[in-house]
Amino acid sequence: MIKAVIFDLDGVIVSTDEFHYQGWQKMADAENIYFDRAINERLRGVSRMESLEIILEKSHKTYSAEEKTELATRKNDIYRELLKKITPKDILVGVSSVLEELKRRKIKIAIGSSSRNTPAILERIGLSNFFDAVADGNDIKNSKPDPEVFLLAAKRMGINPSECLVVEDAEAGVEAALAGAMKVLGVGSAATDHRAHLTSNDLSAIEVDTLLNL
Ligand code: BG6
Ligand code: MG
Repeated sequence: MIKAVIFDLDGVIVSTDEFHYQGWQKMADAENIYFDRAINERLRGVSRMESLEIILEKSHKTYSAEEKTELATRKNDIYRELLKKITPKDILVGVSSVLEELKRRKIKIAIGSSSRNTPAILERIGLSNFFDAVADGNDIKNSKPDPEVFLLAAKRMGINPSECLVVEDAEAGVEAALAGAMKVLGVGSAATDHRAHLTSNDLSAIEVDTLLNL
């Protein structure tokens, strides 16, 4: 029986994916590095610096550690500017009702995200104080597919990992949940991931009872 649900943030609670893409695309264009949406798919759930390394696979230039930090900062500045557009109306379909229903049933809920911008995003969508625990990119050394962020979220809620369900849109996130011995619901880009225990395009078609009995 599931006692807690850990939600990824980007692509699960709110669709920041397009803003991440636009930030990286602008940075890559300015540096004359080839980048497209297919490469962008590989960045889902992956930390900022690891995302940069994936982008730099197409670069002919070798960048120093300082230059890499500057490139990542440049992308993040563009991304943070775009984030200013986000409001509570951008919470993805089905999310609010599932969150409310879990709360009503006294099931613990947490965020488990690789993003260091998690606090700012939660603030923008009005959910800063909504979750029992938040574990994010600021708290961890190893980003997804390592299970660290989910294990930390479980620990902060005081729930055994085997009693946690993770909701993920990223391949790396599905792998991280499985590595942490947790159940997984794959949504969005992970809706076709056969490793997940359950899949759905979004949360609107999900019965909370089904989730809790996974
Ligand atoms: C994840 C996103 O949630 O956070 C990734 O899916 C992103 O695309 C990662 O790279 C890190 O985000 P940030 O906000 O710390 O740059
Ligand atoms: Mg995600």
